[in-house]
Amino acid sequence: MSNFDLQLEHWQSVFNKALDQHIEFHYSGNDSVTEAIKYALKAGGKRVRPALCLMTAKALGGDPEQAIPAALAIEFVHTYSLVHDDLPCMDNDDLRRGKPTTHKVYGEAQALLAGDALLTDAFNVLASQSQPSTGRMVKELASAAGGHGMVLGQSLDLYWTARAGASRLDLDRIHTLKTGRLLGCSAALGALAVDAPMSTVERLRRFGEGLGLAFQITDDLLDETCNTGKSVGKDRESGKLTYLAMMAPDLARQAAKSISSAAIQELDGILTGTSDLRQFALWLLGRSS
Ligand code: IPE
Ligand code: IPE
Ligand code: MG
Ligand code: MG
Ligand code: MG
Repeated sequence: MSNFDLQLEHWQSVFNKALDQHIEFHYSGNDSVTEAIKYALKAGGKRVRPALCLMTAKALGGDPEQAIPAALAIEFVHTYSLVHDDLPCMDNDDLRRGKPTTHKVYGEAQALLAGDALLTDAFNVLASQSQPSTGRMVKELASAAGGHGMVLGQSLDLYWTARAGASRLDLDRIHTLKTGRLLGCSAALGALAVDAPMSTVERLRRFGEGLGLAFQITDDLLDETCNTGKSVGKDRESGKLTYLAMMAPDLARQAAKSISSAAIQELDGILTGTSDLRQFALWLLGRSS
């Protein structure tokens, strides 16, 4: 295990502890929607967005504890996006993280509501802090997640499913919106949580967005392998507009690499503390699940 794997495990475990505490306090009930929320949150994701958020706060010399509400909020939005993404009206997936999807266990209506609750509760967590940057953080998350961000990306993803005529520009726009925006927001929120200057926040947002685009290309590549805990080959079967629908796997891998390298260059304008972020970018690129 490399030093960086240990670092990542550290941030995952810091985040998972905070999440467990939050769940114990705020989701202690056992009604259907609460059970569905807990199921989705605790299914065991990689926690890459909260890790990026906490790591960014630390890289800028701040106290990562200050970024915990932001890390929770972003993982709530990510989890909601997955619960909805798996619904029959979207990707219609039965398996996520090696387990039945939320709607398979709790039914479509409760899964839909669990997603709605997670999105709303994310903003409650974020707005409950009293930091100078709270308003700015709320706006940052809203714009990454909403109708000009992840939701628009998901809508375009569905529009282009099993439809001919898309260009590489369309593909990159979908991937940047549906996945890049939330990763960009994770880094930006980490920076805002420790009151970084706006030029640094913007640089980190661009870094995260590039990482997100590369991350989605890797997700497309991994869709055809069996160790992701998701259904294998589903993108091809449904006619999804992915990198593999447009180019050979080697070219897709190369594209992810060069997009990730360009993203890493954004860090050059930040003078110290960025080595973990650089390693994180490389780790994301080389992941196998
Ligand atoms: C899956 O995200 C959906 C994409 C945006 C590619 P992750 O691969 O981060 O999912 P989990 O949270 O680790 O399961
Ligand atoms: C999902 O992309 C992106 C989201 C915003 C949820 P995918 O549909 O490729 O994600 P997986 O493969 O189901 O995790
Ligand atoms: Mg999808
Ligand atoms: Mg999907
Ligand atoms: Mg996928």
